[in-house]
Amino acid sequence: MQFVVGIVFRLSPAPPPPRLKNVADRTIVAITGASSGIGAVFARKLAAEHDLLLIARRKERLEELAGELTAAHPTHIEILPADLAEESDLESVASRIRGESRLALLVNNAGFGTKGLFWEADLASQERMHRLHVMATVRLTHAVLRNMIARDFGGIINVASVSAFVRSPGSVSYGATKSWMTVFTEGLYLELKNARSNVTMQALCPGFTYSEFHETMAVSRSRLAGPRFWMSAESVVDASLDGLRRRKLFVIPGWRYLLLTTVLSKLPTAARLGVEAAAGRAKLARQLHD
Ligand SMILES: NC(=O)c1ccc[n+]([C@@H]2O[C@H](COP(=O)([O-])OP(=O)(O)OC[C@H]3O[C@@H](n4cnc5c(N)ncnc54)[C@H](OP(=O)(O)O)[C@@H]3O)[C@@H](O)[C@H]2O)c1
Repeated sequence: MQFVVGIVFRLSPAPPPPRLKNVADRTIVAITGASSGIGAVFARKLAAEHDLLLIARRKERLEELAGELTAAHPTHIEILPADLAEESDLESVASRIRGESRLALLVNNAGFGTKGLFWEADLASQERMHRLHVMATVRLTHAVLRNMIARDFGGIINVASVSAFVRSPGSVSYGATKSWMTVFTEGLYLELKNARSNVTMQALCPGFTYSEFHETMAVSRSRLAGPRFWMSAESVVDASLDGLRRRKLFVIPGWRYLLLTTVLSKLPTAARLGVEAAAGRAKLARQLHD
């Protein structure tokens, strides 16, 4: 894809080779949560110019996607079926990417949501969410960064959410873990900037996006928000790749979400908490009907 090719061109210490038939010369993009939604779209948009490591639990889905993409592009695809909330699977993925000298981009995208009040919701799924959104992001980012920094080349996209900027009763762990992802990404951006590294960090913060996310949560999309607030996964990924080319730290696709996050962050704390409490009450009332 042009956008990442753009960054690869700009970050490469030497001029990049022209498109080669030998797949060993192509750079690799690793995508977690590639079996559906936003992750699968990243894979579809990047397959033309990169080899791919596709990571998720559903092996058949990854095989299906790999078949589709290798039929359409001269790409080499490796699938890594893994539950990233499980230590042994996480470590095997980290080991695979740790020494990969052709890795140009890591997309930490795997994630899920839960509903209900924190103290009523299942503790195991809250803890899984923290392991997936926080610990997997830490492990995989650490696995690739030293190598990228040594080569002064590459990028990491952490798929957070607009929820990172909104305290949300009814999805407290989700907002907290996504908020952590943005602060983590921002901190790394500063470390890399101070180190004068060309390695790029991005926190991608989508709002409501068509994918399997809400089916998995068993919530009705139409009850969450009107059609104008829903974005396609394609438009989210296009915004992310465009932001990567321009080295944007925060990418918040869609003007409505940009406005919402800007206004909320400017409100005095008491006013913001008032707005968030009211929105949370409405959300919990809707959840009762799902
Ligand atoms: N859709 C939205 O409205 C929205 C808004 C803001 C942010 N996001 C974020 O966008 C990211 C992608 O979500 P999506 O909207 O594309 O939803 P999705 O279609 O449900 O995709 C989620 C992906 O994560 C993978 N995944 C879930 N748990 C996993 C685990 N334990 N180990 C490995 N992979 C796991 C799933 O694959 P398997 O089930 O095969 O493992 C799937 O590929 C998530 O981080 C989500 O929080 C989504």
